[in-house]
Amino acid sequence: MAFEADGFYLGHNEHIKRVTFDQETQQDRMVAWCKKKYPLHEYYRAAKITRALRPIKSEEEIALMQKAADISVVSFKRVLQACKANIKEFELEAELTYNLVKSGATRHAFQPIVASGKNACALHYNTNNDVCNDGEMILLDFGVCYANYNSDTTRCFPVNGVFSSRQKEVYNAVLYCLKEGSKLLKPGVLHADYEQQMAKLVETQLIQLGLLNANEVAQQNPDKPLYKKYFMHGTAHYIGLDVHDIGLYSRPFEAGMVLTCEPGIYIPEEGIGCRLENDYLITEKRTINLTAEMPIEIKEIEAIMAAKKTWL
Ligand code: GLY
Ligand code: MN
Repeated sequence: MAFEADGFYLGHNEHIKRVTFDQETQQDRMVAWCKKKYPLHEYYRAAKITRALRPIKSEEEIALMQKAADISVVSFKRVLQACKANIKEFELEAELTYNLVKSGATRHAFQPIVASGKNACALHYNTNNDVCNDGEMILLDFGVCYANYNSDTTRCFPVNGVFSSRQKEVYNAVLYCLKEGSKLLKPGVLHADYEQQMAKLVETQLIQLGLLNANEVAQQNPDKPLYKKYFMHGTAHYIGLDVHDIGLYSRPFEAGMVLTCEPGIYIPEEGIGCRLENDYLITEKRTINLTAEMPIEIKEIEAIMAAKKTWL
């Protein structure tokens, strides 16, 4: 997920760039070295060119992203089977890492988020050092980097293997937004319009969950929409060589782009944070979910958690 601030679409790396803006980077040193070694060459910035090229993936790039997604599917199933009451968040992280290394992946795409209970309401929580208590739901946001191409997925599941009725309500609300919202990832749609429609979807679900009042929503200040209390991040970013990949968000969606879709609802007062995230390839005819094999239906998740753990 990413926050919008000062009119810019920010990924986590961009926050870091702001703080370290005036420091010499490895890249600065490399450029200086190159200019000194080859003083007669002419130098131009390639960023504008790569920014236009990178959002459109070639077949080879898509194949690598699919491979990253496939590894993440197996990793997730492993986590589901390892999970039990009182396990530590970092123990589940270890299951991810095990499968990643075993599968020949390069590394985690980013420090994974394994957040049990209310920890899931801290958006970039990744200390992963808490106990997963019976009755809590875990939010798992992780990515696999394979041959420098990334996946980025989020799933939620109950520590004890069975969703409570409230967890089910919240989960199904987010799942509905994911299913409906991802239909907007198609050629010609503007990112801003997609985000606006996703916000409407989430807002409706928040009313149905009893978290917002319909009359108050109807009279809300449009500059300060009430849904932001429970849903406060962007829900689609380019993905590829970077998890938050390079590209202009003013550019309408096109065939060949791969974007995440990641709505969420966070209710700290109930100790529930839920986000669901898939990676979608846009094509002319249809949008393909590269992470379709990662279990997402409640019944599927409960069945895997209940299955005999053959490898533990
Ligand atoms: N999945 C982490 C993020 O998109 O920020
Ligand atoms: Mn993401």
